[in-house]
Amino acid sequence: MKIYIVLCIILSVLIVQKTIAITSPLPPYTSYQFSIELEHNIADLWWTVDENRQEITFELHIKTTGWIALGISPAGGMKGADIGLGWIDSTGQVHFQDRYAYEFARPVIDNTTTDWSAIKGREQNGWTAIQFKRFLDTCDSMDVPIKSGTNVLIYAYGLEDPDMSQTGGMIKYHENRRGSRIIPLQSYGNPSPEETFAGLDYFEFKLQNYVVPTNDTTYHCKVYKAPTNFPQRRHAIAHRTMIDSNNRDIVHHLLMYECDPTAVFDDTNLPNDLCDDINEQIRACSSSIATGWAVGGDDIVDFPEITGYPVGGDFEIKYYLVQMHYDNPKLMPNRRDSSGIRFYLGKELRQYDLGYLSLTAFATPIAIAIPPKVDRFIIDTYCPAVVTKSFPQSGITVFGAFPHTHLQGQSVWTKIIRNKKAVEYLFNAEAYNFNYQFENILPKPIKLYPGDELATRCVYHTTNKNEISLGGEKTKDEMCMHMFMYYPRMKNFYGCSTINSLESWSRLMNSSASSFDFEVFRKWLIELKWTPELSEQWQNFYNNAPRVVVSGPINNITLTNLTRLPDYEDLKPAECKRSITNTAIRSVFLSMSFTLTSFFVTIASRFF
Ligand SMILES: *[C@@H]1O[C@H](CO)[C@@H](O)[C@H](O)[C@H]1NC(C)=O
Ligand SMILES: *[C@@H]1O[C@H](CO)[C@@H](O)[C@H](O)[C@H]1NC(C)=O
Ligand SMILES: *[C@@H]1O[C@H](CO)[C@@H](O)[C@H](O)[C@H]1NC(C)=O
Ligand SMILES: *[C@@H]1O[C@H](CO)[C@@H](O)[C@H](O)[C@H]1NC(C)=O
Ligand SMILES: *[C@@H]1O[C@H](CO)[C@@H](O)[C@H](O)[C@H]1NC(C)=O
Repeated sequence: MKIYIVLCIILSVLIVQKTIAITSPLPPYTSYQFSIELEHNIADLWWTVDENRQEITFELHIKTTGWIALGISPAGGMKGADIGLGWIDSTGQVHFQDRYAYEFARPVIDNTTTDWSAIKGREQNGWTAIQFKRFLDTCDSMDVPIKSGTNVLIYAYGLEDPDMSQTGGMIKYHENRRGSRIIPLQSYGNPSPEETFAGLDYFEFKLQNYVVPTNDTTYHCKVYKAPTNFPQRRHAIAHRTMIDSNNRDIVHHLLMYECDPTAVFDDTNLPNDLCDDINEQIRACSSSIATGWAVGGDDIVDFPEITGYPVGGDFEIKYYLVQMHYDNPKLMPNRRDSSGIRFYLGKELRQYDLGYLSLTAFATPIAIAIPPKVDRFIIDTYCPAVVTKSFPQSGITVFGAFPHTHLQGQSVWTKIIRNKKAVEYLFNAEAYNFNYQFENILPKPIKLYPGDELATRCVYHTTNKNEISLGGEKTKDEMCMHMFMYYPRMKNFYGCSTINSLESWSRLMNSSASSFDFEVFRKWLIELKWTPELSEQWQNFYNNAPRVVVSGPINNITLTNLTRLPDYEDLKPAECKRSITNTAIRSVFLSMSFTLTSFFVTIASRFF
């Protein structure tokens, strides 16, 4: 809890910075595909990915006349990070170095191959701007590949140029002049500016002066009726999270759920209260997450031009639930909040209706029960062909991904399995952090066909916990969810979720009871005495336990038994595309980086 509060304070500071656009007074050298403010009035980053050349060009601006640095970290923090460090000398010359951090210590000059190179740079108005590039994968053991999916970026700067009288240049410690961000470099949504939507119709779901409780953590849930003033179907083309500007410091996340088409509410008295107090009333609104925003994500999300979110006409979703998470560790009284979400409607109907598809291990202890003090605990969930056989013959096109776990989650991925063979990642949030929950836009849309199977894995790290983490909605509980945006929208298809079979739990409990008593089960879980051996057996149990797959609409669910998680031929480790002659070196590095990664996870968690 303490760690969580500290983290929320740190992140509240970040939110304030987040919404304000680029602040560098220097124009970038060229136009880029993507840009983001790394730290308000301190650091901005632009970048473009060149698929053909497998190269990425960055431009980093930092408010200093000393050195500036950008790094790719395997799992957050400096250890194992690949760093490009540059400065402008007194003659206006740009210098750039490829460095590598063995430890949380001064990074050494990369003495294998030099892979970061400066293109241009200048120093002006107290800022340093450098344009530089790197291959996505350099095949160098002293670099970190920039993989598809999420990436961990670190940045830092010094107040002086390196002292070049010493070999390689001596850099002074940056102290707190540093930061870290999880950014999907190849899947960044790059939101349009708000002006793009000026003059468009919109609808919004907003609170009105809600008095935020004087409590460190509040989950507020409110059901909203879908707009009824659009007799003809329209398409929302983008949405904008509207965080009340007074409350950037306390709004932690906003999740919007579609309520099941069969959900019935009293329109004059829609549920609107602490989520825990109205759990039963809002059950029909719990299975289909439509959109999410959390600290560190972008306010505006645009949909591709081919698709829009349906509104009005005969669209089946009649109610939505918006869940707000407030974090008020200072217990500030009388904070009033009017945050919410707005949908902009395009003038024309687009070609396809957009849908959301979620792959989850159910947020219940029957699906999620994670031992404490474990470095890496894996929960797999699987969506078999019998479920996806209802996809249209012509397929569906997935264009966005929203991975979601709570605080212990470290990594979330989904692979597409065809004919018992993994063909590619649907999305790989290898670096996941609760506090950077982007709606990722896939670099290339991916088609799924009837019969495709989807293997999803959530990885958790619990060395900071003393108790078991159980599946549930509260922040301290855990979730395993990978939500995707796709078109054309399917009717009555929201996703695919698994639980471990009740028989497998009963066997583990040595229970001879004829029926499964949930309360007895829960009590048993909470009272377990954990040892490293038990945690290991627990992982084994999860790897082999039969699953029940739940799919279909909430009032007519279909259950499918899986006697075990299906085997499939896994993806081959990606070959380094830059140079084939280096594969030997590379395979050594691959195995090394793998063992290191789990170690970094341990380290990183101390900082996050
Ligand atoms: C590179 O530097 C490291 C120390 O930083 C050293 O251990 C290693 O031998 C050097 N490698 C080469 C190829 O010079
Ligand atoms: C904070 O909220 C929790 C859960 O709703 C409640 O049990 C607790 O009493 C609240 N604390 C305060 C100070 O209001
Ligand atoms: C279940 O029974 C086995 C063998 O009889 C024993 O080793 C195990 O500890 C028991 N498990 C529990 C949870 O009681
Ligand atoms: C329930 O789902 C099955 C297929 O999953 C379908 O055949 C049946 O018509 C559905 N029933 C209702 C009432 O929607
Ligand atoms: C699935 O497993 C449950 C429990 O073992 C059993 O009752 C049910 O009949 C099975 N369903 C199918 C379709 O095999």
